[in-house]
Amino acid sequence: MATTEWNRRHILSLEDFTAAEYDIILQTAASFREVLTRRTRKVPTLQGRLITNMFFEPSTRTRSSFELAAKRLSADVLNFAPGTSSLTKGETILDTAKTYLAMGTDMMVVRHQQSGVPQTIAWELDRLGAQVGVLNAGDGLHAHPSQALLDLFTIAQHFDPDAPRTALLAGKKIAIVGDIVHSRVARSNLWSLTACGADVHLAAPPTLVSKPFADAFASESGSLSVHWQLEPALENADIVMTLRLQKERMSSNLLPSLREYHQQFGITRDRLALCQPHARIMHPGPVNRGVELSSEVMDDARISLVQTQVTSGVAVRMALLYLMGGGKSVA
Ligand code: NCD
Repeated sequence: MATTEWNRRHILSLEDFTAAEYDIILQTAASFREVLTRRTRKVPTLQGRLITNMFFEPSTRTRSSFELAAKRLSADVLNFAPGTSSLTKGETILDTAKTYLAMGTDMMVVRHQQSGVPQTIAWELDRLGAQVGVLNAGDGLHAHPSQALLDLFTIAQHFDPDAPRTALLAGKKIAIVGDIVHSRVARSNLWSLTACGADVHLAAPPTLVSKPFADAFASESGSLSVHWQLEPALENADIVMTLRLQKERMSSNLLPSLREYHQQFGITRDRLALCQPHARIMHPGPVNRGVELSSEVMDDARISLVQTQVTSGVAVRMALLYLMGGGKSVA
């Protein structure tokens, strides 16, 4: 397994990731996907290592997915829950991180509602000379690298199940629909998809995406367009990524109503007729059924990759923990 080119201790944002690094992740995740189909779905790779999940914000699939990935790699796992922790007694986040450092944590997986918290923890650990990797599991509206990487794996695997690789993304039309401006998932996907040469089309009401927003992600490899209507983004699309309306992050009412949003931007079976015949729908979850996409589309396994994304998530997160841990042999 190719790990020689991997030299990141932390994974905080995908902003400066190269196609070669994405390929290492895809290839490593494909090996772990195979491990997860064995009768014993576990490898001793990170035996004796300690991984601490620090989720300061609610999460179902990301937290469980990281915990399961760590366990499948035979690591020990600590799960920090802010509600029952010393944070409620006034302890700072950095002191909490240092407490877990003193217990011998090798990697910290951090989610926080404020942008920049995982980066701040990583800086502090580096300053202390600790050899501890920090993985950003979602910070504010800034970044959610592991979600974008599992999305990339899901797409590449859809086009070639045997050899998922970045080259498969080149020239593919990928529509990203929904609350883009408040979405850390969209931001991270924009870095990865354009770096892999995809033709990305953003579609949302003008209150949820702007041209200056998209300009910030301009890249030499892929292309990026903004639409304030759904149809031009869907036309001949290979993949449609839908995003949850992030009501908790909207500072004021940015939409007339959810019903109106669904009428204009909701993905329904009829609308999918505009896409390529083989097109697939994705959503990072949690889904507002009947808002971002109809239940009929979401539950149709011939069209929806939503469950595959969850399954891919475990293999991709195993790959990330393995690479950050300076992994050796998988078998
Ligand atoms: C996303 C998140 O938390 O950023 N969900 C996830 O990680 N599966 C997207 C969202 O909350 O809408």
